[in-house]
Amino acid sequence: MKIAATIAEARTLIAALREERRGSEQGNAVGFVPTMGYLHEGHASLLRRSRAESGISVLSIFVNPIQFGPGEDLDRYPRSEKADLELAEREGVDVVFLPSVDEMYPQERKTTVTVTGVTERLCGASRPGHFDGVATVVSKLFHIVKPDKAFFGAKDAQQVAVLQKMVIDLNMDVEIVPCPIIREEDGLALSSRNVYLSSEQRREALVLSRSLREAAERIQSGESVSPRRIVEDVTRAIQASPLAVIDYVEMLAFPDLVPLDEEHGLSDLRDSGGSLILAVAVKFGTTRLIDNVIMKLKEAALHV
Ligand code: PAF
Repeated sequence: MKIAATIAEARTLIAALREERRGSEQGNAVGFVPTMGYLHEGHASLLRRSRAESGISVLSIFVNPIQFGPGEDLDRYPRSEKADLELAEREGVDVVFLPSVDEMYPQERKTTVTVTGVTERLCGASRPGHFDGVATVVSKLFHIVKPDKAFFGAKDAQQVAVLQKMVIDLNMDVEIVPCPIIREEDGLALSSRNVYLSSEQRREALVLSRSLREAAERIQSGESVSPRRIVEDVTRAIQASPLAVIDYVEMLAFPDLVPLDEEHGLSDLRDSGGSLILAVAVKFGTTRLIDNVIMKLKEAALHV
């Protein structure tokens, strides 16, 4: 496994591997997993998928300052370079790109990638500028790594929707591959930020996966229930936890992330075989957690 600290090194290493593996049995397609480090089993699952589907596996670790708003956790974002590199090695990564902030943003930046529409609700509404920061850095990383496929966790479902829109609109020659949410045995979605939770907060945080799972079961069981009712019930279940402060509970069409029009939206969505997302963002103390379920409407039975 090679480590590149500069853009030039990353480009040289990846180009050399492309050349070396041309015509080989595993092929020379580049699979890419962009991360902010503090890697856990969720990241490992992305790296495994990348390894399985590509001849060359590239990982980036970069805590991207421009996707954090004022008062967010940039300064205390957890870091663990040694453990990250060990995990990367175990998962068969070929190149780790580990740039500094100066390497990625050397001078005053005049270019920002803004994706509109899909960024209006959910985390886009409560974290202004966040997705500009994500789209800008991922666009830069794509230009550096030139991947054939890039793998992202579905926990950040809005991020997946934003990046899918970005690569279509900007004709980027890369496939965005969404991968399933990885959970602890008790249901908590894995996140680098879980490390901030006290044991009491962690226990209470289980209400997120539990209420989402119960809602999904109700929808899939064919119970006659409206989207508004589902959102109210999930909100009530989360509010029952004394430590939970809700940022949002929303049910939207996926991946367009537009509201489900109770009168027409559901039948249109069902006819088109579309999907919906039930998503939550909730603070426990200073830690903001997100979670979601995505359902295909053909298999789900939602009523107005
Ligand atoms: O999901 C993340 O870890 C980050 O948003 C990403 C995609 C690496 C961009 O900084």
